[in-house]
Amino acid sequence: MKQRTRCVANYLLFGGAAAWGLLLVSCVMTTGTVTSIPSVPGATFVGSAGCVECHENITTQFYDRTHAGLMGHANKARTPEQGCESCHGPASLHVKSGGESGTIVKGAQACASCHQEVQARFSMASHHPLREGVVGCTSCHAAHGSKQATLTSTNATCTSCHQAMRGPHAFEHGPAVENCTNCHHPHGSPLRKLLTMSQPMLCLQCHSLPNNRHGQTGANATGTPFSAAVLRDCTSCHSQIHGSSQDQHLRY
Ligand code: HEC
Ligand code: HEC
Ligand code: HEC
Ligand code: HEC
Ligand code: HEC
Ligand code: HEC
Ligand code: HEC
Ligand code: HEC
Repeated sequence: MKQRTRCVANYLLFGGAAAWGLLLVSCVMTTGTVTSIPSVPGATFVGSAGCVECHENITTQFYDRTHAGLMGHANKARTPEQGCESCHGPASLHVKSGGESGTIVKGAQACASCHQEVQARFSMASHHPLREGVVGCTSCHAAHGSKQATLTSTNATCTSCHQAMRGPHAFEHGPAVENCTNCHHPHGSPLRKLLTMSQPMLCLQCHSLPNNRHGQTGANATGTPFSAAVLRDCTSCHSQIHGSSQDQHLRY
């Protein structure tokens, strides 16, 4: 019965005909692997309407935020555990006690139950240490956050921990100033260092190799000369890929 409810909930959540595939996936994956909606012993779901009484600062802003779609107010058919309680668990004891501590779940443990594909990325060869307990979803996302749900900007979020990559540098690398996710996946990647693509292809998306600058040390099957630089990691020479204070070619 519990499984069934989850399937229905997932359908309502992602709504729309195009989401049938998702529905199926959700239902299948629900069996066993899902961290379900958090539970609080002895408590039942009461719906989000009553939270406003004591948490107006959160509820008034929540409706136009990323997770506003979880709120049941616009759709009577939604199950009551959606809305605030989809992350905080059933709140009857919390409300009855007037907010006594220990009566409600903090929330972050719920993220994985809906974002399974994101969660799975943290098991890839290169990943941010989430399972290891070093970072959490809310290290980078605001729990009740705005449309994009990342704290401030992506780069400001990344460089708040990775200060060595923070500019300004005398010689900047354009894509690093623009967005770290031009080259890195924020959650996890099968490639080393969270890269979205291996070298040299990562670099050759935007650069062609001017032969005169890299030498012509090889030839392909048709005899056209090429630079052996393409056979190496570009960063073995251009090691200051995030910006250099000394060299315009980002080598040191
Ligand atoms: C997407 C999941 C999610 C939803 C939906 C959600 N919250 Fe939260 N909430 C969290 C997380 C995670 C935290 C803990 C934040 C932290 O530790 O930084 C939190 C913290 C809180 C806190 C503690 C004070 C604070 O600001 O940190 C209150 C109160 C709260 N939420 C109320 C609500 C109410 C009311 C709603 C519905 C309008 C709601 N939450 C919806 C995830 C959620
Ligand atoms: C009768 C008042 C009242 C109502 C109604 C109420 N809360 Fe609270 N809540 C409190 C008080 C008091 C606290 C503790 C002080 C604080 O963090 O604001 C609290 C704290 C919380 C926290 C943080 C818990 C922690 O461990 O830090 C969350 C999450 C939360 N409430 C969610 C909700 C949700 C979701 C609802 C609606 C289902 C709700 N509250 C309804 C009074 C209330
Ligand atoms: C009950 C299911 C549910 C839970 C729990 C949940 N989310 Fe979501 N989340 C959604 C849905 C549905 C959307 C899509 C909203 C939309 O597009 O309007 C979404 C969107 C997002 C987005 C934005 C995606 C984008 O493309 O802009 C982020 C980031 C996000 N969630 C992070 C979190 C974090 C962090 C938590 C835990 C604090 C969490 N979610 C918990 C269902 C959930
Ligand atoms: C190290 C920082 C970081 C951590 C930790 C993190 N995220 Fe993200 N997440 C991001 C950034 C940055 C983006 C935006 C990526 C982009 O713009 O391409 C993002 C995008 C998303 C999205 C929307 C796009 C997508 O990939 O589906 C969701 C949903 C999401 N995150 C959920 C989560 C959840 C759930 C967790 C915890 C299990 C989490 N994130 C942990 C940084 C992080
Ligand atoms: C809350 C702090 C925090 C934030 C925010 C953060 N990181 Fe990390 N990052 C870490 C930690 C911790 C590690 C693991 C370091 C280690 O193992 O030495 C790491 C590792 C990495 C690695 C190396 C991974 C590997 O396999 O060696 C890259 C690349 C990276 N982060 C990029 C980013 C990007 C891009 C962002 C922004 C989307 C970001 N980080 C945001 C804490 C953070
Ligand atoms: C142009 C592509 C590109 C962009 C954009 C980029 N990086 Fe990187 N980053 C790389 C490459 C390539 C490596 C791996 C270098 C190596 O070890 O060969 C790397 C490695 C890292 C590492 C691991 C360093 C180590 O010694 O293990 C961190 C952390 C990191 N980047 C953070 C960031 C942050 C933060 C941003 C945004 C400010 C960013 N990167 C933007 C290409 C990029
Ligand atoms: C998203 C596009 C993009 C990617 C991916 C990218 N770059 Fe760049 N790169 C640029 C831009 C734009 C500039 C600035 C161009 C200019 O000033 O001529 C630049 C500048 C450079 C420069 C300095 C050029 C000079 O004048 O000396 C080097 C070296 C460089 N990139 C190497 C790399 C390497 C190595 C990689 C892969 C790890 C890489 N780039 C990935 C866009 C990119
Ligand atoms: C063996 C070391 C080495 C490797 C490997 C290497 N480069 Fe270079 N690259 C250099 C040197 C040295 C220069 C500067 C030449 C000069 O001073 O005129 C340079 C210059 C550049 C420039 C600036 C060229 C210009 O015309 O302004 C770019 C862009 C660049 N490299 C990209 C790459 C990319 C992409 C790769 C990987 C496919 C790569 N390099 C691999 C040594 C290397």
